[in-house]
Amino acid sequence: MAIRIIRREGDPVLREKARDVREINTQILALLDDMAETMNDAEGVGLAATQIGISKRLIVVDIKDEHGLLKLINPVIIHREGRESAVEGCLSLPGVAGEVERDATVTVRALTPEGEEKVICATGLLARAFQHEIDHLDGILFVDRATRIIEKED
Ligand code: CO
Repeated sequence: MAIRIIRREGDPVLREKARDVREINTQILALLDDMAETMNDAEGVGLAATQIGISKRLIVVDIKDEHGLLKLINPVIIHREGRESAVEGCLSLPGVAGEVERDATVTVRALTPEGEEKVICATGLLARAFQHEIDHLDGILFVDRATRIIEKED
C-alpha cells in the first residue's frame, strides 16, 4: 500500500470523465487500497480515483459510521429524493469550502472489491459524500455546484 499524491484543482485529470472498470484485477484492488490509505492520511471522508490521477470509476468513502470503509467500483446513483444544503470541502481544493445543495437521500449501486453488487441507501453526510465523489468521476468539483464559497484561513 502507498499514499498517493492528491491532485489539486487546475490539474486536468480532475476534469476528465472517468471510465468504467471492466475487470476487477489485482491492480484495481491495489488502487483501492492506496486510495483508502491516501484518504485516511489526509483525514478525508471520501476520495475518487481521479483525485490521484487515475481516470477510472472508483471511489472510497468512510464517514466513520456503521458502514465503515466503503470501496466502490462503478458507482451509480439509481434513486434520489429531497434536497438539502450543507457546507462541504474537498481534498483537491484545500483552501475553500462551499455551501452545496444536493439530494438528501440517494441510493447507490456499485460493485464491491469482491465483485458483488451492492445497493446502499444513504442520507445525510453519507449521501453527500457519495454525490461529491461520483461527481469527481464526471469531472465535476463541488465549487461548480456551490451556492456560496467560503475561503478558509489556513
Ligand atoms: Co472532493
